[in-house]
Amino acid sequence: TLLQTLFMATVGAFTLNSAIAADAPIVIKFSHVVAAETPKGQGATLFKKLAEEKFPGRVVVEIYPNSSLYGDGKEMEALLTNNVQMLAPSLAKFDKYTPKIQLFDLPFLFDDIKAVERFQFSAKGKELLNVMRDKGITGLTYWNNDLKQLSANKPLRVPTDARGQKFRVQNSEVLDAQFKQILAVPRKMAFGEMYQGLQTGVVNGAENPYSNIYSQKIHEVQKYITESNHGLLSYMVIVNTKFWEGLPEDIRTGLQEALDQVAVETNKISHDFNLADKQKILDSGKTEIITLTPEERAKWREAMRPVWKKFEAQIGKDLISAAEAANN
Ligand code: LMR
Repeated sequence: TLLQTLFMATVGAFTLNSAIAADAPIVIKFSHVVAAETPKGQGATLFKKLAEEKFPGRVVVEIYPNSSLYGDGKEMEALLTNNVQMLAPSLAKFDKYTPKIQLFDLPFLFDDIKAVERFQFSAKGKELLNVMRDKGITGLTYWNNDLKQLSANKPLRVPTDARGQKFRVQNSEVLDAQFKQILAVPRKMAFGEMYQGLQTGVVNGAENPYSNIYSQKIHEVQKYITESNHGLLSYMVIVNTKFWEGLPEDIRTGLQEALDQVAVETNKISHDFNLADKQKILDSGKTEIITLTPEERAKWREAMRPVWKKFEAQIGKDLISAAEAANN
């Protein structure tokens, strides 16, 4: 009968579907908020290449740059509900899950990006990859961007120049405190909303490494950049713990190797990449870059440093000392 035929067809389709499902590749959606042509964007692209080469037909990595799938605020929820499997949020964006990672946002903590790397790949740095596991988030490695610069529509040479200025900050209590410390007004805002926030005057300033300034065209809506190198922008590559632990062993090992390789590559190029973007900003003639004298930079350091004390208990003194020791 017709009903029987329909029934058989349905069963057939169902069997076929499960056969396909068994052979279906593992899809890793990797969402991020920056442009593809940034250190993180390039890192994600390289990871996709390495992962798909290692596991042809078994692993597919889909990259969604520029907040095109999820922006700040939504991406972490999406990871926890397994709607994306991999993210690389800035270390400033983990406040809700652990106070420890706030370490990386303490102003003037690291002298340069090499010191950052030394700390991240030390035993203490690696321990931090696991502090959110019970919350369902597993850290796999770090990828660095670079140190941040201040941007504004007025020249900022000394901390008092920033008084009353409204600065866009990432969703971080340390960064909020950092600007309050110099009597400026921090405003937490998603990365994808920063350009418009600056353009419309909701905020007057921001802090970013050159690669984010250039790729988001921030220099077109800011008259000045002060080369302050006052803080760090670095990322933790994270996965949903359950998803990760459910992967076949060989795939998990292979993907970890790929991510480690990308960390080496990204960290090798990120500082020079930022310097090249600094040159492009200079060439655009749209914004003036202010270099500070050592005395001027010392004033910013002195003005922002009290923030350390405020967060010392939450972060842990031992962790702060270990990070400082990486400078030598
Ligand atoms: C920011 O929000 O400023 C950064 O975290 C963006 C990024 O991912 O580089």
